[in-house]
Amino acid sequence: MELLVVGSGYVGLVTGACLSEMGHSVTCLDINEDKIKLLKKGAIPIYEPGLQEMIRRNCKCGRLHFTTNFDKAVPKSNVCFLAVDTPCGEGGEANLDSLKSAVTSIAERMTGYLIFVNKSTSPVGTTREIDSLINRVLEERNIELCYDVVSNPEFLKEGNALQDFMKPDRIIIGTDSEEAAKIMKSLYAPFMLSHQRVLLMDPASAEMTKYAANAMLATRISFMNELSGLCELNGADINKVRVGIGSDTRIGYNYLYPGLGYGGSCLPKDLKALRKQAEKLTYDTPLLNAIEEVNEKQRHSLGAKIIAYFAESGGTAQKTVAILGLAFKPETDDMRYAPSLILIRQLLAQGALLRLYDPVASESAQKVIPDHQNITWCESEMEAAAGADAIALVTEWKQFRFLDFDTLLKQMRGTAFFDGRNQYDPKQMVARGFDYFCVGHRPKFFLQTKN
Ligand SMILES: NC(=O)c1ccc[n+]([C@@H]2O[C@H](COP(=O)([O-])OP(=O)(O)OC[C@H]3O[C@@H](n4cnc5c(N)ncnc54)[C@H](O)[C@@H]3O)[C@@H](O)[C@H]2O)c1
Repeated sequence: MELLVVGSGYVGLVTGACLSEMGHSVTCLDINEDKIKLLKKGAIPIYEPGLQEMIRRNCKCGRLHFTTNFDKAVPKSNVCFLAVDTPCGEGGEANLDSLKSAVTSIAERMTGYLIFVNKSTSPVGTTREIDSLINRVLEERNIELCYDVVSNPEFLKEGNALQDFMKPDRIIIGTDSEEAAKIMKSLYAPFMLSHQRVLLMDPASAEMTKYAANAMLATRISFMNELSGLCELNGADINKVRVGIGSDTRIGYNYLYPGLGYGGSCLPKDLKALRKQAEKLTYDTPLLNAIEEVNEKQRHSLGAKIIAYFAESGGTAQKTVAILGLAFKPETDDMRYAPSLILIRQLLAQGALLRLYDPVASESAQKVIPDHQNITWCESEMEAAAGADAIALVTEWKQFRFLDFDTLLKQMRGTAFFDGRNQYDPKQMVARGFDYFCVGHRPKFFLQTKN
């Protein structure tokens, strides 16, 4: 069985690497020549723990290959995974241009029975659309070939992607074809040794399952963020509330962390796309609308706190803020919809001087954060803290968990610490000498110099 993975980004590379790790013969294809050149040299264009080693290992064994060439890759393939980007369109809808282009390129070159497996997150009805597109291309070629289209949404989390792919909670296979279902089950069999986790369903339900999962995760995050704002006013501590409700087995602990709002490459765009799908069917989604509204507010909350803090000492202009962490979450270099971008924009608009540091994502951050005279890029948290009036913790990288706070404070000009991820003990932070602000808890003793 020859497998082709079209699109070599976060999902495509992990899919290709993990399938080859299980013994399959895989070719990863991308239209981005620089990416493929890099991959052929043994380097990888993204940061994902363990991925480089797995790719190198499987390339060395001859099970994993990289190419930009559809002509060579398609005719020898039996199953073709689609893992291209489906970004947010101008109106919020999922933009399927890359997906349609990839499907066309494959259909133009297929020579026998082929299974198209769509891993890209795409609206309900996309499996049907892909089917019609292939049909049209084959008609234009004046050739009759058998094929099946399967919806197989991906649930991996960046930063833990290999583990998620190798030990999935479930594999969703959406197809009406018994033949395709059988082949897909056998492909995924090596990942199911402990117990069966393949869920077979119709394509529409499979497509909807991906959006429903992301909407549920976003709901939990926005719910906790909304309550955290209330806790900041009424004296409760959202962390204690989190543990209090998480211990209820009907609720559980996952995705109950308040913070800076959800970001990243999936939740924001998928929520928008889901709302758009409902809008097209003239179906009201007050709950989904509210999830986004709460998230937008939360994404601006840290900046608002910093600006309010400096309002009492002459304003934010010319105040120096060290920002620790830029990636949208730890263990990735992905900057898509990262909360840091909003904070940076807010503070620059006030004339603040920013000192930016991320352990891994500085390079990808520099591609999306425009050059600015008020921005200094730093190589460590200590360098970022030098002369700072405030520190803002934005991404909870593990190395920030145990900072050398005494040295950090000595480096600083001021004493403010804005913890956007509730990483530290408020009492200890105040005892160390910080004006400490976190999310969802704001008793008076947090402040050294105020109240
Ligand atoms: N990143 C995640 O954590 C994640 C998780 C689950 C699902 N998804 C979904 O998976 C899909 C891919 O996401 P990603 O983060 O890997 O995207 P990505 O942007 O990292 O990678 C997409 C790749 O596809 C390539 N591409 C675009 N058009 C192509 C074409 N016609 N032929 C060949 N290659 C082409 C691009 O050059 C790029 O390298 C999206 O639909 C996303 O919503 C992503």
